[in-house]
Amino acid sequence: MKALVLSGGSGTRLRPFSYSMPKQLIPIANKPVLEHVLDNVRALGVTEAGIVVGDRGRQIAEVIGDGSRLGLRVTYIPQAEPLGLAHCVTLARTFLGDEDFVMYLGDNMLPEGVADIAQDFTAGRPAAQLVVQKVADPRAFGVAELDAAGQVERLVEKPQQPRSDLALLGVYFFTSAIHRAVASIRPSARGELEITDAIQWLVAQGAEVRASEYSGYWRDTGRAEDVLECNRRLLESLRPGIVGEVDSRSELDGQVLIEAGARVVRSRVEGPAIVGVGSVVEDSHIGPGTSIGRDCVLRDTRLADSIVLDGASIVNVPGLYGSLIGRNASVGTSARHRLVVGDHTRIEVAA
Ligand code: G1P
Repeated sequence: MKALVLSGGSGTRLRPFSYSMPKQLIPIANKPVLEHVLDNVRALGVTEAGIVVGDRGRQIAEVIGDGSRLGLRVTYIPQAEPLGLAHCVTLARTFLGDEDFVMYLGDNMLPEGVADIAQDFTAGRPAAQLVVQKVADPRAFGVAELDAAGQVERLVEKPQQPRSDLALLGVYFFTSAIHRAVASIRPSARGELEITDAIQWLVAQGAEVRASEYSGYWRDTGRAEDVLECNRRLLESLRPGIVGEVDSRSELDGQVLIEAGARVVRSRVEGPAIVGVGSVVEDSHIGPGTSIGRDCVLRDTRLADSIVLDGASIVNVPGLYGSLIGRNASVGTSARHRLVVGDHTRIEVAA
């Protein structure tokens, strides 16, 4: 089995981050989402992965390289415009050949993996094996209607009036039957070739399309809230350790990882939390659910439940929580509110 990992798209819901980086590189527990995805792919025994990339493909290639660090052989497949998930399958035709494959959206986090579902697929080899989960508001997802035996009867992409609460997760297993399907559909109302429509085409042709309900944790990390929640969740299984330095006036509480070259001085760090390579935390209080990236500076600050990306500095801010701070951003204080804010940034100041 091969893997097709989709890492294009414009990431509009993750602005302003997606203006300067692909959303698949947002770090969760200090590791890019895409690396979590590729680890899951490798755990299925897959060694050949095609990664479909958009205009930020170079940044992705800089981080993932040829994949050997992750035990994979990676082929990059450029997509000039985000024309849909089914369009990605057509672009990958040569890479995939006639092999079975898992298609995995590069922004979907399933920390418990998908090994059981891969087994279901290889045992029965239906034309498509989907993964579904009940959600409160299915309108933001592809929605599946199943019969009692788990056979898919109907699929609709982001319906206004969903007839089921089963959302499609971003992991799909296909045989080569999908290639005729993606070649047979027309673009949707939003101008994209939807994989949901291609699978619906298979259903209409009488092909076997199955769905397994996923009981594990799943998040599409399309929005900042989901990224933060997922970070909190992953930190719960953090392996603690001190590789950097913690001075005698500091206190670590719970599961805390202090990475190489990081320094904690006169501070309290309450886990689960990570202080990344080369970062400095001084006279500060770091609360649970916090991931601090590389080479950050936190001074005279209280911060909890947040992600701080590489090179950011936060000085003299007494109460910051639930925040996502971008690369090399600086947050500080002055007598009045003073903001230099990028496009589509969201700020909430204490009232
Ligand atoms: C895509 C799919 C949708 C699926 C979702 C899962 O939507 O089109 O069917 O439910 O991923 O994350 P997108 O997030 O690209 O809008």
